[in-house]
Amino acid sequence: MNRAPFRLALLDASHDRSSFDSGARALDRYFKEQVTQDVRRRVASCFVALTEDQRIAGFYTLASASVPLTELTPEAIKKLPRYRVVPTVRMGRLAVDQAFKGQGLGGALLGDALTRAARSEIAAYALVVDAKDEPAAAFYRHHGFIALPETPLTLFLPLATVPIKSQGPA
Ligand SMILES: CC(C)(COP(=O)(O)OP(=O)(O)OC[C@H]1O[C@@H](n2cnc3c(N)ncnc32)[C@H](O)[C@@H]1OP(=O)(O)O)[C@@H](O)C(=O)NCCC(=O)NCCS
Repeated sequence: MNRAPFRLALLDASHDRSSFDSGARALDRYFKEQVTQDVRRRVASCFVALTEDQRIAGFYTLASASVPLTELTPEAIKKLPRYRVVPTVRMGRLAVDQAFKGQGLGGALLGDALTRAARSEIAAYALVVDAKDEPAAAFYRHHGFIALPETPLTLFLPLATVPIKSQGPA
C-alpha cells in the first residue's frame, strides 16, 4: 500500500484543486467552486493534506458554530450549564481523494481537526460534524462521535475527551 507522508496546510492560491476527486460530487464541487469564497468571507477555514509533490489528497473545513442545548443527548445535557445554546466548532466538510482512500488519511484529518479545535483558546464544547449520508455517519461513529438524537446525521464529540499534545514553550 502507498503510505506517502502528508503535510497539512491552510488552503491557499498555490494549491491546485482542479483534479480533486473524492467521488462525492457535491463535496468536490464545493471544494472547486465555493470554498475560497467561504474562506475569504471568514465563514470557514479550509485545511488540505498535501503529498510531497503538492497534490491535494484530502481537505476539511472548520467554522465556529453552536448547538441548542436541548438537541444534545441527555448524558451530555446533564454535564452542561443551562445555557440555551452550547458553543461548538463545526467540521462542515471532510473528503479524501479516491486515490488516497483507505490509508488512514480521513482518520488523520479528523484527528487534526479535533486537535485544532481542542487546542484553541476560544472555548467550544464539542466538534460537530455533518455526515452527508449513513456510511459517512458510520465513519464518525467509528471514531467515537455521538449522533444527535433528533438528527442522527449530525454528530458531536466533546473536546474535553481529546488528548492534546504539549507544544512546548512558545
Ligand atoms: C469518509 C472518508 C473521509 C474516509 O476517509 P479514508 O481516508 O478512506 O478513511 P481512513 O482510511 O482514514 O479510515 C479510518 C478508519 O475509519 C474506518 N472507516 C472508513 N470509512 C468508514 C465507514 N464508512 N464506516 C465505518 N468506518 C469507516 C476505517 O476502517 C478505519 O478504521 P481503523 O482506523 O480502525 O482501521 C472518505 O471515504 C471520503 O472522502 N468519502 C467521501 C466523502 C465523505 O463521505 N465525507 C464524510 C463527511 S460528509
